[in-house]
Amino acid sequence: MRNDYQHITVTPISGALGAEIGNVDLAADNPESVYDEINRALLENQVIFFRDQDITPKQHLAFAKRWGDLHQHPFMKGMDEFPDILEIKKTPSDKRNFGGGWHSDQMFAPKPAMGTILYAKETPTHGGDTMFANMYLAYDALSDGMKAMIGNMKAVSSGDNFKAAGGKTRKEVAGDNKSMTVLDPSPTEKTINAHPVVRIHPETGRKALYTGGHWRYFEDLTEGESEPLIDFLREHSTRPEFTCRFRWEDGSIAFWDNRCTQHFAIDDYPGQTRIMHRITVCGDEPF
Ligand code: SIN
Repeated sequence: MRNDYQHITVTPISGALGAEIGNVDLAADNPESVYDEINRALLENQVIFFRDQDITPKQHLAFAKRWGDLHQHPFMKGMDEFPDILEIKKTPSDKRNFGGGWHSDQMFAPKPAMGTILYAKETPTHGGDTMFANMYLAYDALSDGMKAMIGNMKAVSSGDNFKAAGGKTRKEVAGDNKSMTVLDPSPTEKTINAHPVVRIHPETGRKALYTGGHWRYFEDLTEGESEPLIDFLREHSTRPEFTCRFRWEDGSIAFWDNRCTQHFAIDDYPGQTRIMHRITVCGDEPF
């Protein structure tokens, strides 16, 4: 990896993925060459982090739109004034957080999210970190036999995956977190879809394992037949050496590439409040 950036600084935070970006104020009117470097840093590090940012919802939206159209979560209600922004909120009275399992955003959609830009508004004094895992490394570490076996398989993912949520539907889980509103998706929205188990990143051309908590079963296999391989691939994909962990402060921003990562919001801050603003950018159909 070259570190010949002209405008920004790029400091890796682990051996697997993730880098902190310095020397940029996302509220400023930066030249295009700064955003080109940010895009390069994202592709090279899979997830990038900014500290001490102070941006308005409109600036957050404008930054996200540089990477594509914005995606509204089919099951979660966005902010009244800014429906493209999902407020992720947990207060002391909520029993459960949002995103507390390994997943890649909207892998249940026909065209899952390309990227997610999460902005920390209010963070706990400690706890509430987010973990990320590098799905290129997870794929590369598989045996040749496993790569051959899964190379042409597809997995079916579901947006309302009660299996991954301890047997509960999203509506039931919503009862554990009253700070966020779960919607019934529009009847025309497809929230159960099959995608390749191994996907090719459309920009880097690299192969990545495309797994996460939304997986239900493999196409042409039953749930029972699929379960052992799903369990293996999920566990394998989040081995510690494929991961990094980000400690949030108010004003931090994480921008991750869902095409080659998974993430996990850690729910370890009882009695404290955590508020984040999330925007997801539309992606392509995985191939
Ligand atoms: C998410 O899954 O998008 C939530 C991540 C977080 O709150 O850290």
